Amino acid sequence: MNTKYVLVTGGAGYIGSHMTLALLDAGAKPIVVDNLSTGIRSAVPPSVPFFHGNCGDEALLDDIMKNYDVNAIVHFAANIIVADSSVDPLGYYRNNTGNARALIDAAVRHRIPHFIFSSSAAVYGEPNTAIISEDHPTNPINPYGRSKLMVEWILADVAKAYPINYAALRYFNVAGADPIGRTGQSSVKATHLIKIAVQAALRKRPGMDIFGDDYPTSDGTCVRDYVHVGDLVQAHLAALAYLRREKENLICNVGYANGFSVQEVIEVVKNVSGVDFEVRVQNRRAGDPSRLVASNRRATEMLRWSPRYDDLKTIVRHALAWEQRLLVDQL
Ligand code: UFG
Repeated sequence: MNTKYVLVTGGAGYIGSHMTLALLDAGAKPIVVDNLSTGIRSAVPPSVPFFHGNCGDEALLDDIMKNYDVNAIVHFAANIIVADSSVDPLGYYRNNTGNARALIDAAVRHRIPHFIFSSSAAVYGEPNTAIISEDHPTNPINPYGRSKLMVEWILADVAKAYPINYAALRYFNVAGADPIGRTGQSSVKATHLIKIAVQAALRKRPGMDIFGDDYPTSDGTCVRDYVHVGDLVQAHLAALAYLRREKENLICNVGYANGFSVQEVIEVVKNVSGVDFEVRVQNRRAGDPSRLVASNRRATEMLRWSPRYDDLKTIVRHALAWEQRLLVDQL
């Protein structure tokens, strides 16, 4: 493992905090920048240099890069709620696209050779195949997806013009928590299915809603490819090794090529928790594609990614354990 620093933006957030721990576990040296808008300071171990600020703040970035020998940037900091992006597109373009541009600019100015970007399945829009490969056309249907795709375009242009290579990892539905309980999804405003369902199982909310049961799927509810956050961050470590090893760029899905419906997820949460809770069927939520399932051939072949937690029950068990922990912390 290279002993130079890895700058993790959003390292106090859900996925970023798992990445920071994975880097430490691998013997690497993370530095975190986070504005703590949704992240939590205590999610970052005290041994890790932490900068409270914006990942697009030129002066802050210059300061960090002058003081630390940074070899790679892993950029997580972003707004992630698809519905909010239609209400506040300018905020999403500023935070997701504008800040990424400023960060990439700093990477180029300071000759940082490697950049890993959190992209999303949202860049595909409504897919025209059951299993989505990276060659599927990109046609995002909301500002969130467009804010991410624009960064992929910036990176492609920048990598042609300057000595930097990049990986854009297109995440499917990230869920679960650190298997040994060091971090998890702590966001106060939960919108993601598994987080909401485990909260219902723990009676943190009075049941839950299914957004639409009239989709063209086997039980009428949307199908998604749920990937364990622990496997997701391992894909980032593999991408970092790839960028250091190869002189190439990489666009790569991260998912299990396995789809579960909303109904199936809720059943697993009820089974794993042993708790029944009320489930109400509501109208469709705007902008939900009926099915999003990844091809992961590229991740397994090019990154040699071998997932360890490819099992919905395990994902739910870890999400539930983390949510229980949050409950205890609130007491
Ligand atoms: N859902 C419910 N009830 C809930 C919450 C979610 O029925 O209370 C449904 C949604 O309608 C959807 C499925 O569960 O059909 C999954 O929804 P999530 O909100 O958990 O995740 P999304 O698929 O909307 O979003 C994910 C990522 C985004 C990414 C998007 C790509 O979290 O970052 O996939 O479309 F952009």
